[in-house]
Amino acid sequence: MINVENITKRYRTLTAIEKVTFTVKKGEILGFLGPNGAGKTTTMRILTCFTSPNEGTVQVAGFDCFEQALEVKKRIGYLPETPPLYHELTVMEYLLFVGRLKGLPSWRIPSRMDSVIEQVGLGEVRRRIIGHLSRGFRQRVGLAQALLHDPPVLILDEPTVGLDPKQIIEIRELIQSLVGSHTILLSTHILTEATAICQRVTIIHKGRIVAVDSPERLSARLRQSEKMSLTVKAPPPDWIERLRAFPGVMSVFQGPSIETCLIECKLGHDIREDLARFVVNQGIGLLELKTVSMSLEDVFLHLTQHDEPPPPTDPLTQEIL
Ligand SMILES: Nc1ncnc2c1ncn2[C@@H]1O[C@H](COP(=O)(O)OP(=O)(O)OP(=O)(O)O)[C@@H](O)[C@H]1O
Ligand SMILES: [Mg+2]
Repeated sequence: MINVENITKRYRTLTAIEKVTFTVKKGEILGFLGPNGAGKTTTMRILTCFTSPNEGTVQVAGFDCFEQALEVKKRIGYLPETPPLYHELTVMEYLLFVGRLKGLPSWRIPSRMDSVIEQVGLGEVRRRIIGHLSRGFRQRVGLAQALLHDPPVLILDEPTVGLDPKQIIEIRELIQSLVGSHTILLSTHILTEATAICQRVTIIHKGRIVAVDSPERLSARLRQSEKMSLTVKAPPPDWIERLRAFPGVMSVFQGPSIETCLIECKLGHDIREDLARFVVNQGIGLLELKTVSMSLEDVFLHLTQHDEPPPPTDPLTQEIL
């Protein structure tokens, strides 16, 4: 549904994005992750035809963003970083204005307004002035304008930024309800958000794509060892040394409490059974034994901590580049 191929955008001497390539399949939600200034908004502005790339091509629903911008715009709902709202209008007045602006036939506007107001939960504030609404509700109005012309593709630039935890959950649920019927590209800084709602994530760093995969596969691919945490009731004084002698164990550290230790083993060595046997034989009382997986946060930091971005970890992207 979205095909981005080798796009580069330069602002004078600054290269905002370089050779960015990715695809989003129909009905899929792709998370676009990256630190400040990574190039997320720039890429989204190209996709929504607000600006054009210096190199490369972008297609949305089979239409070229440069040659057939109007066709692309008809099929895209865009929620920019700052929603384009008129604060002195009421929600209904604003949506009516957006409907006309988007060229919807006048007979269709009232039913579409009712439908999006219901969809994003704006019923109780439909007659209120936008400037008087809370930030969460204003964000919903932003989503409503993006959905008004019923586009198959949604481009959402950090839709939950600045919201309180309750509002974040509500907006996330709303976005999740749109997956399947819409193809969504969602940018975020919040890693848990990407894990919670995105089937795949793209990590962009200094204008380059450094990884594309499912959150689970990304963390599995970057894992270089198996980590597990063991908590017992009565740890003997020498247990750390004895655990270090287990075959396959690379390191053992105590903490965060005296009863817990973190064990790192070679990849492919699952020593949980051995550990369980050790605890039972010693009679030291097993309280907890669990594997510790690499979070998307670890993956993100791993991929974005270097000055020069590492090459992409997605074999497909690597091939294209
Ligand atoms: N119109 C512009 N003129 C000059 N430089 C720009 C312009 N727009 C963006 N840039 C630069 O391009 C780079 C990428 O910016 P962009 O806004 O795409 O990042 P981002 O990933 O959206 O960051 P954030 O998470 O802070 O929103 C930045 O260095 C930014 O300063
Ligand atoms: Mg941005």
